[in-house]
Amino acid sequence: MIEDASRDSGGIRKGWDERANRYDAWYGTFQGAVEHQVDWELLRAYLPQNRDVNILDAAGGTGRITLPLTKMGYSVTLCDISPAMLNVARQKLLREGVLDKVEILECDVRKLRFADESFDFVLCWNGGIEAAKELIRVTRKGGRISIFLVNKWAAAIGGFSRDSTSALALIKSTPGYVEDEGERYRAVSAEEARELFKAGGIRVMDIYAVCGWMDVLRIPQEVQRSRDWDEQFFSQAVEMVLRLAKEPSVRGMSRHLVLYGEKM
Ligand SMILES: C[S@@+](CC[C@H](N)C(=O)[O-])C[C@H]1O[C@@H](n2cnc3c(N)ncnc32)[C@H](O)[C@@H]1O
Repeated sequence: MIEDASRDSGGIRKGWDERANRYDAWYGTFQGAVEHQVDWELLRAYLPQNRDVNILDAAGGTGRITLPLTKMGYSVTLCDISPAMLNVARQKLLREGVLDKVEILECDVRKLRFADESFDFVLCWNGGIEAAKELIRVTRKGGRISIFLVNKWAAAIGGFSRDSTSALALIKSTPGYVEDEGERYRAVSAEEARELFKAGGIRVMDIYAVCGWMDVLRIPQEVQRSRDWDEQFFSQAVEMVLRLAKEPSVRGMSRHLVLYGEKM
């Protein structure tokens, strides 16, 4: 079964509060813009046709996804543990004239303050598998869920040269834990994620491999970080990453997996 884990909320909040004013700038780089486009292209295919649904963007930060959702006509509940990240979101939504379409709440995704089955679509692109139980609880039957998970294989590949013993222990152990962006998460393979979500009442629709492809493609750091790029190369990079994201044979190399499922 999907379990809760206790990570210190104060530490998480402080870390993200400190990063809040820099967070959106990264999505203005080549790498960030490619990853955003890929995330969005994948998500779009799972969104409900009906715009009158309840969508939860949990751990939604500065509203990177909430903002385009409101522009498509959806109303969204945006929650996050970091008041500073939410503040950036609030200012952005106000500037874009869509603040009235969003309810903003400060809360921990591992202890959501919503009734069971409150939402038709729940996305959580941070928070890890530790948040899954709560996210499933607040999703209505027949509703959909999208959740980012830390990929066990990529963590072992990335950590092998630094600490080969721990890297091997990670792929041999269930559960295995890793540090990701300064926080400790349970890392899973796609197969483990599929089993865990099935046991939690979710029919897994797809699992995509979404992070870290720029290095695999050997795109130089100066291109990855640039803010000015050739549009043809950008489109080709998006197409390539989308193809890699959907290709099961290379899934182990992506730092994060994004799972899409339906509550049974
Ligand atoms: C990498 S950012 C992602 C933000 C947004 N989902 C996106 O894709 O742009 C991670 C966000 O998760 C939030 N977060 C991390 N752990 C959390 C928790 N336990 N509860 C609520 N929010 C959390 C952070 O405050 C931060 O805003």
